[in-house]
Amino acid sequence: MSAVLERRPVLNVDAVRRDFPILDLVVNGRPLVYLDNAASSQMPNAVIERLVKYQKEEHANIHRAVHYLSETATREFELAREKARRFLNAREAREIIFTRGTTEAINLVMHGYGRAFLKAGDEIILSALEHHSNIVPWQMLANEKGVVLRVIPMNDRGELLQEEFAKLFNRNTRLLALTHVSNALGTVNPVKEMIGYAHSHGVPVLVDGAQAAPHKRVDVQDLDCDFYAFSGHKLCGPTGIGVLYGKAERLEAMQPYQGGGDMILSVTFEKTDYNVIPYKFEAGTPAIAAAIGLGAAIDYLEGIGLAGIEAWEHELLAYATSRMKETKGVRIIGEAADKSAVLSFEIDGVHPHDVGTILNEEGIAIRTGHHCAQPVMQRFHVPATARASFAFYNTLAEVDKLMEGIVKVREIFG
Ligand code: ALA
Repeated sequence: MSAVLERRPVLNVDAVRRDFPILDLVVNGRPLVYLDNAASSQMPNAVIERLVKYQKEEHANIHRAVHYLSETATREFELAREKARRFLNAREAREIIFTRGTTEAINLVMHGYGRAFLKAGDEIILSALEHHSNIVPWQMLANEKGVVLRVIPMNDRGELLQEEFAKLFNRNTRLLALTHVSNALGTVNPVKEMIGYAHSHGVPVLVDGAQAAPHKRVDVQDLDCDFYAFSGHKLCGPTGIGVLYGKAERLEAMQPYQGGGDMILSVTFEKTDYNVIPYKFEAGTPAIAAAIGLGAAIDYLEGIGLAGIEAWEHELLAYATSRMKETKGVRIIGEAADKSAVLSFEIDGVHPHDVGTILNEEGIAIRTGHHCAQPVMQRFHVPATARASFAFYNTLAEVDKLMEGIVKVREIFG
């Protein structure tokens, strides 16, 4: 292959950026540099226009009437479910439950599986890398039922200790609840191997995919996970929508999460017969527009290609990491061998909040704080970090601007 072909960019970033109107914003007199994608990514025109079309031409409640608009909205909502099925390579569309996001998806599993089936003395394995969303629901269960939580520790690079992981299993282990990618450090966990190990002990696995699904191809059949959750708004889609994938036989055995409309087959004052999956878990009018918008976001990302997205984000991360390493007074927190495009760092003698404030003056958006992962901060003995998180529409020039901003922070704080 010629050198020119080898260096061909994995993605046409200039063209991609034109799809995102918000990236043209000027903030504090500077072109916006948006590096807070792990918190929420931006929405392309294709999704914005799909939402407008739905509101202008298709809106009605779903599954409830025979009129044209209700049938149209129902068809488009179920088409979005089919897109989510295809995106995750789930076997069947009924294995896709629409939720408000990853957090609600995990809470659904906590109620439907944990509260229904676990008892005092049963154990759940979590990892030291989890977001609060994959800790707090299990603590609530522990408080209520006497379930015991066991935590996989990590090393100083932010990698889970696989030997310690293996030691946590015993005859009381009932669930492994594990993040695919750490939101605070970017560590990519070897989930496929860990799922295989858990299954060899007969233990089901829930994967928090909020930080993975937007950045790499996820195949739930290949992973063989029992549950997989992700959020729409980190995937260039709307807020208020997410997906819980669950193996059909698991979902069928579970209790409903909420009671109400659409999740029933029949109701009397004596008893209720529940609907089939996925509807058993979708009580009340769902976020119809948001689900359809998520379907459009999935189409958009697949149009670009997850392989190209992952490759480009990897280039951004590698470049930003090397630039940061050559900058005095900056320490990267989280240096796992396998990382997604998240860069947590601290600057000597400067509180992360001040870093974020000064960068904002330069039009640069990063997140500062504990990133809803306080145990990760405790492990690294920091109250907070500054975090730049990249998406496929970011550029190397934006990394340079981030680094110029960091130099400015250091100058201001002497
Ligand atoms: N979980 C989101 C983040 O990491 C909000 O920023």
